[in-house]
Amino acid sequence: KKREGLASSSGGGGSVVTVHASQTPPVHLDAVSGTRDFFPEEFRLQTWLFEKFRKCGLRAGFEEYDAPVLERQELYKRKAGEEITQQMYSFVDKDGVEVTLRPEMTPTLARMVLSRGASMILPLKWFSIPQCWRFEATQRGRKREHYQWNMDIIGCKEITAEVELLSAAVEFFKSCGITSADVGIKVNSRKVMQSMLTINDVPDEIFAPTCVILDKLDKIGAEAVVKELTETLGLPRETAENVVKTLSCKTVEELEEMAREAIEVSSGGDDGDNTNSNTKAVDDSSIRELKELFKLAEEYGFGDWLQFDASVVRGLAYYTGVVFEAFDKAGELRAIAGGGRYDKLLSLYGATTPVPACGFGFGDCVIVELLKEKNLLPNVQKRVDFCVCAYNKDMQGKAMKAAGLLRQTSPPSNGSGGGGGGSSSNDDDGDGNINSADENKRLVVVDVLLEPKKKVAQTFDYANRIGARYVVFVAPSEWENGCVRIKDLRAEEYAEDDADKQVDVKIEDLWN
Ligand code: HAM
Repeated sequence: KKREGLASSSGGGGSVVTVHASQTPPVHLDAVSGTRDFFPEEFRLQTWLFEKFRKCGLRAGFEEYDAPVLERQELYKRKAGEEITQQMYSFVDKDGVEVTLRPEMTPTLARMVLSRGASMILPLKWFSIPQCWRFEATQRGRKREHYQWNMDIIGCKEITAEVELLSAAVEFFKSCGITSADVGIKVNSRKVMQSMLTINDVPDEIFAPTCVILDKLDKIGAEAVVKELTETLGLPRETAENVVKTLSCKTVEELEEMAREAIEVSSGGDDGDNTNSNTKAVDDSSIRELKELFKLAEEYGFGDWLQFDASVVRGLAYYTGVVFEAFDKAGELRAIAGGGRYDKLLSLYGATTPVPACGFGFGDCVIVELLKEKNLLPNVQKRVDFCVCAYNKDMQGKAMKAAGLLRQTSPPSNGSGGGGGGSSSNDDDGDGNINSADENKRLVVVDVLLEPKKKVAQTFDYANRIGARYVVFVAPSEWENGCVRIKDLRAEEYAEDDADKQVDVKIEDLWN
């Protein structure tokens, strides 16, 4: 559709140029299956979304980082049978190195933290918005590339870290106009399951693959999960059934009760057994943690967004404790975001002391679907403050000089409405630092008409089409007087008097 209907105007503003693609073009013109082009209007929306992610991160004291999209494959070589490891875009580069387009950011973050080692002062709070690649069957909200807002805290073993992350996710939802009636966050802990396996003498290495299989419950059902646990991992049937049963608990208290019963059964009610009382201590701590998480969320003021859900396990092998997942309450979309605690991942990559960690990934696809559905997507307009037009070709250099001066001014005080502008990286307050206040000052956007029009009406057409607020005419008569003529394209909306619509401004005053 795009191919046939594409009618693009030249940025030059000369005669309108249209593009017509051949019905049988010599190259594929569609983006690769499952990937997206971002045309300017879509890119404006994406910028709007990313700025919301960014602001939520910055407000919570997180710092932004980034890394190459290409990683060494070995970073993802995990043996737990996760789907993600079978969905990678991998190849061998010309140095013979096995590389892959990152399917997720967490291993990269772990690698980066380890590469700086002892010089990293923990805890650190970092965020990023990487593009991730997974060869998936594409569907609504699922693509082969997506951007994922990642928020992670490395070096804190307390449940406060999870609470802080959950709070940031909730703040993001609220900033978009989403309420706890639209979205909820299901919370669970893998630790209870781990205790169940430990008390049944299942070796530690089986824990991660068990979780990966349990995560399929929704897709394949309880009986198939038990079958896979027994046949693939060799779990005793009773243990497999017990673990699957924990997924149906409705409350933390019910989970606590079930874990206690399992412990009593496995210890034969013998209180004097030291091994089992150790295990029980682990179990108690996970229940305590969950209760504490809900209590802190309540005090923070976002308790209504959370709900305990024992069936949430998550499909990534490295989670060790609390896991969570944001979902739409209408139940129409896939998970909006997911995360949890991964206290052993850095050790897997060579940390010689335990480094506790937790975080979440929040995709850009599902949230846009939800915002569309709720009518909460803004109409982010292209914004141009000034359109500078030369009277004729001879005046082009002067027009460019005027544009250069205007670009260094502050935005017009009565503004041009709209949004979606970028952010300035100038040190506007001149203190030698670029801070967020500087960054958030609005850019003055000055478009130069590249090919002067023969008729004034055509110039106005162009200025209107690009959404300019003011037209700046650079003509010989005004220029001789050291002036340019500025016309307010919106003045008609509120003034009849022509004097209010256009005004001659001294060139040196364009600075002000
Ligand atoms: P994940 O659950 O695989 O976790 O992905 C997190 C989020 O990324 C999902 O909830 C979804 O919004 C989005 N997402 C994942 N795959 C796709 C896809 N194919 N198309 C569109 N969106 C997608 C992780 O990746 C973990 N590394 C998150 C994390 C960070 N855990 C700790 N820190």
